[in-house]
Amino acid sequence: MSERSEPRGELTVRTIAMPADTNANGDIFGGWVMSQMDQAGGIAGVERAQGRVVTVAVEAMHFIRPVRVGDVLCVYTHVERIGRTSMTIAVEAWARRFQTRAREKVTDATFTFVAIDQDGKPRPIPQDATGAPAASQGQG
Ligand SMILES: CC(C)(COP(=O)(O)OP(=O)(O)OC[C@H]1O[C@@H](n2cnc3c(N)ncnc32)[C@H](O)[C@@H]1OP(=O)(O)O)[C@@H](O)C(=O)NCCC(=O)NCCS
Repeated sequence: MSERSEPRGELTVRTIAMPADTNANGDIFGGWVMSQMDQAGGIAGVERAQGRVVTVAVEAMHFIRPVRVGDVLCVYTHVERIGRTSMTIAVEAWARRFQTRAREKVTDATFTFVAIDQDGKPRPIPQDATGAPAASQGQG
């Protein structure tokens, strides 16, 4: 499978991998990376849904390369599909290696978020900035 040399989507979260986030191998915990990806997807989801969202599913999580202490983790998001109350967001995590300009994709996954109201119930996602409800709409 050929790897793209450039990330897809918008840079949504950028953070540094710290010693407290390591596993017994001395690499960064996959769970920490997943958490950063969930937060990035949530930020993109809130922006698109114009309000609260929750994660309902994570699919196709691939850990491609390890993240190491000192790497800068850059998480990119791309809204792939908008349903009535749910949306699918492609999330890629790239590591800018410690003290270098080298950048590698380390993880990718597809997150599904649901827009919720004050009671935690699904609510329609606005079609656009005017707040009109969405019909089924894809975003390429
Ligand atoms: C998300 C939640 C509000 C959905 O409630 P629900 O009663 O199951 O809602 P619905 O069955 O009406 O589904 C709502 C939308 O979610 C989608 N959906 C539900 N379960 C899904 C799943 N496992 N995978 C993908 N999409 C899913 C439905 O297809 C629907 O999408 P659409 O409106 O665009 O067609 C509810 O399941 C929930 O609160 N889950 C916990 C979320 C949470 O706490 N996340 C943090 C985890 S720590």
